[in-house]
Amino acid sequence: MAFDKHQAYEQAINEINAILEGETNMILKMATINCVLKQHLPYYYWVGFYCVNKGQLIVGPYQGTLGCLHIPFSKGICGRAARMEATQLVENVHEDPSHIACDSRTNSEIVLPVWDNEGQLIAVFDVDSTTLASFDAVDQSYLEPLLELHFKENELIKSYQ
Ligand code: SME
Repeated sequence: MAFDKHQAYEQAINEINAILEGETNMILKMATINCVLKQHLPYYYWVGFYCVNKGQLIVGPYQGTLGCLHIPFSKGICGRAARMEATQLVENVHEDPSHIACDSRTNSEIVLPVWDNEGQLIAVFDVDSTTLASFDAVDQSYLEPLLELHFKENELIKSYQ
């Protein structure tokens, strides 16, 4: 049977929502979202969060090959998503001069802003694929509400304490 992106997202999101029911810790939520999405979406090569820290982005929970540790707001597609507080869909990263190549195998990516319940930007969510044009409005339409639900609407504790 052909791979159905809608079905994969629906299954992944149902699973994430069930697992995270009543959970409040930010790191726990980030780690779970990465893991479950990567299990269901085979084109996810690298998936993770860059967290806002002292005026820049620093790598947070992720799955995949080694990610860049620091990304200034002025650099990368992640920095652009943070600066503009808007989702970035990039079909071919090699044609985007802002792209930072943490892993040269990446060919396309989506980066989404993550806000807390006060509307503060706390992170960006970055997914990379080795295939060109892996991400489209379908990915965006599932990921934006998922991030809003777990970081903006549901209770969020931004530390391990
Ligand atoms: N591609 C991103 C950098 C992060 S990684 O690829 C893990 C960017 O240009 O912002």
